[in-house]
Parts: sequence; C-alpha cells; structure tokens
Amino acid sequence: TGFFTYDPGFTSTGSCESKITYIDGDAGVLMHRGYPIDQLAEHSDYLEVCYLLLQGELPSAAQKKKFEGDIRNHTMVHEQIASFYRGFRRDAHPMAVMCGVVGALSAFYHDSLDIADPHQRMVASDRLIAKMPTIAAWAYKYSRGEPFIYPRNNLSYAENFLHMMFATPCEEYKVNPVLARAMERILILHADHEQNASTSTVRLAGSSGANPFACIAAGIASLWGPAHGGANEAVLQMLTQIGHKERIPEFIDRAKDKNDPFRLMGFGHRVYKNYDPRAKVMERTCHEVLDELGVRDEPLLDLAMELERIALEDPYFVDKKLYPNVDFYSGIIFRAMGIPVSMFTVLFAVARTVGWVAQWNEMVGDPSQKIGRPRQLYTGSTLRDYVPLHARG
Ligand code: CMC
Repeated sequence: TGFFTYDPGFTSTGSCESKITYIDGDAGVLMHRGYPIDQLAEHSDYLEVCYLLLQGELPSAAQKKKFEGDIRNHTMVHEQIASFYRGFRRDAHPMAVMCGVVGALSAFYHDSLDIADPHQRMVASDRLIAKMPTIAAWAYKYSRGEPFIYPRNNLSYAENFLHMMFATPCEEYKVNPVLARAMERILILHADHEQNASTSTVRLAGSSGANPFACIAAGIASLWGPAHGGANEAVLQMLTQIGHKERIPEFIDRAKDKNDPFRLMGFGHRVYKNYDPRAKVMERTCHEVLDELGVRDEPLLDLAMELERIALEDPYFVDKKLYPNVDFYSGIIFRAMGIPVSMFTVLFAVARTVGWVAQWNEMVGDPSQKIGRPRQLYTGSTLRDYVPLHARG
C-alpha cells in the first residue's frame, strides 16, 4: 500500500538531516561541524572533538575544563558491572563482551532517564563516553585472567585507556607520550562518519524511544561485522595470511575473481570514491609510531604499502574507485602498541561512541523525528488456505 522507493542497502536513501558530519566521497573530504578531519587529528584532542560533535562548536577553555571534569566524573563503572563480566567465557570475543556489558548499562540507568530532557541526554552521553574505555580495557583484562585496573583521572582519555589495558597491580604502566598522542589521533579519526551502518542502527533503535545504552549496544553489534568496523581485525588477518610480497598478485587476483568471496580488506567504501582522508593520516601516524618504537623493519607495513601500490595501479581497483579506507593501516599501529588483534574493533567502538551519542541526541532532539520504519517488497506466497498437520506432505 502506498508508494515507496525500493533501495536495498540504502545506497541512495537519505534517512535524516544532520549538522554533525559532512563527507564528499568523490573529493575524499570529511569534516566535523565544518572542521576538516586532518586539522582536527593534527591539532585537537579527542575530548575536544567529542565536545565539538555533541555541542556544535569547539569549546572555550572554561567549557573544555568543565567537559573534561564531567567525563572524569563518570569513568568508573558500577561494581555490579564488574561481576557481570564473570558470566562470560574467558575466550569470548571482546566485541561479544562489549555488546553484553554496554547493553547491561541500560539496567543501571533506566528509571532516572527522561530522554525528552536535553540535560539527562547529555548525562547519558557523558556516561557512555567516559565508561567505554573502562569497559573495553576490562574486556581485555578479563580475557587474560588479570585483575581489572581502575581508571586514573589525572591521565588524559587516551593515556587512561592505555593505563587500564597495560598496568597491573604489581607494575605501573609508563605511558609513552608519542603512543598516547597516536592513540588520541586514532580516536579522533574514528569519532564519527555520518549515517554508516552502526550509526543508522543506533538511530533506528533510538527512534522508538529506547534506552540509549541499549541503542549503543545495538551499534556495537552492527560495527562488529567485517564489512564495517570488523575490517581492521580482518586486515591484519589478511596481511598475515598473505605473508610475503611475492604472494600479493595471487590475492589481488582472488579479490578480482567474482567466484571467490575474498575481498581486499581495508579497501573500498560506500561513500568514498577517492582516497579515504582518514587513511592518509593513519598511514602517517603508523610511520611515527614505528619510528618512536624503534621498529626499523615491520614486514606487515611493507606488505601493506606494497599491496596498496599494486592495487592502485590495477585497472580493476582504479575503475571501481577502490582505495584504502580507515581500517587499512590502523591495525598495524595497534599491533605495534601491543594491542591484540581481537581488541581492534573494540577500539573502533570506543572511539565511535561519541558519534553514536551525538547522532542519537540530534535525532531525539528533533521535533520532526518519527520512528524509523523501512518498507519492503514482498516476494513470498500469495493467499492460500491453512493446511492441517495430518494433511501436509
Ligand atoms: N575488494 C575487491 N572488490 C571490491 C572490494 C574489495 N575490498 N570492495 C568493493 N569491491 C567491488 C565489488 O565486488 C563490486 O564489484 P561489482 O560492481 O563488479 O559487483 C564493486 O566493487 C562495488 O562494491 P559493493 O560491495 O557493491 O560496494 P558497497 O558500497 O556495497 O560496499 C564495502 C562497501 C566497504 C562494504 C566494500 O568495499 C568492502 O567489502 N570492503 C572490504 C571491507 C572493508 O574494508 N570495510 C571497511 C569499510 S570503511 C570503515 C567502516 O565502515 O568501518
């Protein structure tokens, strides 16, 4: 009934108005609230970008101080949450743990939350941004059988995350400032990306008026897939599988073969038909981190650069406008920092939380907002009569 456009995969459907993020996929441009991503990655810090995404403007010094204080206020998680981890197997994928634990936050902040009240929405947003590094680091600690390390509020956002990941009760973790800065930059590069699958999932879930913590858990689930945030993990697995430069042509051929499901992970994008501007900053950061760590020779980086070079000269990738995306180089940096592969997508989720909550806030605060309800083309059976069990074949 009624007219609608059939658009599987939403390749040409705009689902909302938004003032947060602008992408020009042909030109390879990404801006948050008008500021180019490379300027933010170079000069800003993650919490400042969070403020920008949520509030629309860069903060004044006083606003920045207050926001950092608000976030610090919420870095702890309820002790009951700590016991929640113990229901998981130690070898559970950390993204599975993230879906469960973040979803469980909805049970802690439910009755007090009136989403029509902008102040309460902001408190929910602060809580999520503040608690995600703690929840993520604890997923890692749990997988190792190590005790949870509590947040240290005198550290920056990125430093605190590295501290909770790598400190133990027996040993301090001395945070390397170059690595902390690189982590800060990686968080900025992942902070928001307009209406991608996980953000659209958060908006759709939130459009019914659902609890925001539960909506973010839905976003984490969507991000997990290898076509989306799971690609950073898949890139490292792919590079490890390729193993040597001589084998690159074999994998390029496989990626081009329509009968082979293999794709070059970290390549291609629904919107960018040019180099992903985040990938450029990521590659630069990768070199900086390896230099700082004194890694002269990182075979996976050499392999990645050679793979990129060969792919970008191949007519298949040129014609289809397939370029490296944000996930192509990030895994090599994470690995150099000592972060295990299974945590790569978790880091993406930590960083993207601000994008999800900013988009959720924008949607809930929009009076014209309606519940999201796509239509379908029905291709099933036409009308038929019920067949009793004894009469079925
Ligand atoms: N390797 C080989 N061929 C590819 C690739 C690839 N990575 N990506 C797209 N193609 C081909 C695809 O086979 C199709 O060919 P044809 O037109 O002949 O059927 C054409 O390019 C268009 O691809 P599509 O799948 O229709 O495009 P899409 O917009 O639906 O998919 C994508 C976008 C990102 C899912 C896809 O490029 C992909 O699977 N890339 C690998 C996974 C990846 O790196 N994902 C991370 C995306 S960026 C960060 C994020 O979202 O988290």
